Amino acid sequence: MRTNTMYRMWLQYQPIQNFQKDLLGAIAIKNDSSIAKSITEELSLAWEGMFKLQPQYTTNDDEKIVIGTKDKLDRLLDSNQKEWLHTVSEEGFLIVYQNHQLVITGNSEQALLYAVFCLLRHMQLGTEITQLHITEAPKNGLRMINQWDNLDGSVERGYSGQSIFYQNGNIVQDKTRIKDYARYLASIGINAISINNVNVWEEETYFITKKYLPEIKEIADIFRLYGVTLYLSINFASPIAIDGLQTADPLDPDVQAWWKGKAEEIYSLIPDFGGFVVKADSEHRPGPFTYGRDHADGSNMLAEALAPFDGKVIWRCFVYNCVQDWRDRSTDRAKAAYDHFKPLDGNFHDNVILQIKNGPMDFQVREPVSPLIGAMEQTNQMIEFQIAQEYTGQQRDLCYLIPQWKEVLQFDTYLKGPGTTIEEIVAGRIHPYTSSGIAAVSNIGADENWTGNTLAQANLYGYGRLAWDPALSAEAIAKEWIIQTFGSHELVVESLREMLLASWEVYENYTAPLGIGWMVTPNTHYGPNIDGYEYSRWGTYHFADREGIGVDRTKETGTGYTLQYAEPHQSIYDDRHACPDALLLFFHHLPYKYTLKSGKTIIQHIYDRHFLGAEQVEQFIAKWKSLQEYIDTDRHAQVMERFEWQRRNAREWRDQVNSYFYRKSGIPDQQGRTIY
Ligand code: GCU
Repeated sequence: MRTNTMYRMWLQYQPIQNFQKDLLGAIAIKNDSSIAKSITEELSLAWEGMFKLQPQYTTNDDEKIVIGTKDKLDRLLDSNQKEWLHTVSEEGFLIVYQNHQLVITGNSEQALLYAVFCLLRHMQLGTEITQLHITEAPKNGLRMINQWDNLDGSVERGYSGQSIFYQNGNIVQDKTRIKDYARYLASIGINAISINNVNVWEEETYFITKKYLPEIKEIADIFRLYGVTLYLSINFASPIAIDGLQTADPLDPDVQAWWKGKAEEIYSLIPDFGGFVVKADSEHRPGPFTYGRDHADGSNMLAEALAPFDGKVIWRCFVYNCVQDWRDRSTDRAKAAYDHFKPLDGNFHDNVILQIKNGPMDFQVREPVSPLIGAMEQTNQMIEFQIAQEYTGQQRDLCYLIPQWKEVLQFDTYLKGPGTTIEEIVAGRIHPYTSSGIAAVSNIGADENWTGNTLAQANLYGYGRLAWDPALSAEAIAKEWIIQTFGSHELVVESLREMLLASWEVYENYTAPLGIGWMVTPNTHYGPNIDGYEYSRWGTYHFADREGIGVDRTKETGTGYTLQYAEPHQSIYDDRHACPDALLLFFHHLPYKYTLKSGKTIIQHIYDRHFLGAEQVEQFIAKWKSLQEYIDTDRHAQVMERFEWQRRNAREWRDQVNSYFYRKSGIPDQQGRTIY
């Protein structure tokens, strides 16, 4: 384990004072599998850092700290505790101080691992251990991370250096960093990972062959020690690419037999392999459309091959026309996923899960919630977030995304009346889903601090915590993360908490206004280019002219996208007076002088927010500077450098957006500030 503070993220294990000394004797650990070994390794690491001592491990029930699955601790548990454990999933655990003993138990060894990380979190947060009485079980079954890593070492939409998995066309030999990543993931409750890009290029297609499987097995072995199941992204055309079959048609018996053979081969090496993640018929990736088949045909064929081994097919719904003619006003990219998938409800096998991005477009700073989520009652679904900040500052600019994800999870779809929130849907509590949960695109890379901007570690941390327990507030998560990462000095906690919680809105302030999205530099997606995608084939337009701006998606005069929502959302979004300001231009094309609910005109809102956003970045910088003496030089300087980037970016956005709309509209800023 490397010792520098950047690398250690939220598992700093800094010395702690005022700890009950009597708890520092031997630790009983009643299980002895490989996960139990991970537990003792972690405890040793933590004890070394926090107390400068190495714990002794015994199997004696009388120790002050006793760790064991419920079957091993029967004698120490009362009937209520046993009853509670009985009602929760395999991952449920209990930590309780009773009879002068700290008892840590759970339904499985994986649960014990989560329990121990929970204990270590509380120790780092300074919780009084003798007061502990924790009962926890995750709300979501699948809590997954998607790596978009390529074999050449690059990471698609990666902003933290090269891949930790691959280098120059090979899987890395030294896998210590992968093991540390597994530790971090387990510490926040992640239980699944796909380790290669959803865009499966030529060489990565061979990941499911003997050329790479033995080494992928080694990676699976590492993740297994931390309760994380390994998945692979696959190329739908693999039978053609790998073995020269004439077709990849999912209804072709040879193709079906080929995938069955493939599944057997994979499971013979990795018996608990999770399954396949599939991007098909999306952005030029091959899929069933080529053969006149649909997504159900395609995914079911793979599902049949994996079913004997309990494997899953995670089929992505990011399907839209990416070669649209910008002159064509009838096609609306926002409608695509729903239009493609909703009619297929009920046609998918039980071990298929549809993975749906949180919004209908693509991880913009502000989008409505995807209307597809929850709209399929008989088809397993999970939501996809992006921790990597592709469109939200790319881990240069500070943008704490937990408030955004909270908003999405709390969105009440009304699909089955009030209370049909996204949170309940993806937890599988509304429809009879057999598998569901949350996935997110990772933000880590080989940078020493893992996440480019050290403060972007908060998004990875928060993602895991939220996937485990969506009821946690963005603020509580921020606070936990800050204290574990930077210590508990009040000024640090307060300042950073404020910065994190404000940062999403700040980013929104100086970038694309009122839900319209995009306006980014094509391809790289960092920095402004107002018309960058305006006359392109990607379906992402703002339609600004001299009168106004926005996309009319109403049912009366627009694309009819609003019809994909249940009431009351349909009517709310359709009505410009009812539609929330934040999403107004997503749903309506309106004149610059239109007055928002805030009382400002659209044009004045644009000017005000852009001046404000850039100003708020200056305040972040001042605040960060004031923390210099409380934060180690490495991390302080590293973040400072990122803030300089953000300052330049915010200025550029402010001036380009303001100038653009001033020139289009001819309407001056009421406050007469400088516009170019
Ligand atoms: C975005 C992103 C791509 C990615 C795609 C996807 O469009 O820019 O790099 O491949 O999403 O989610 O598949």
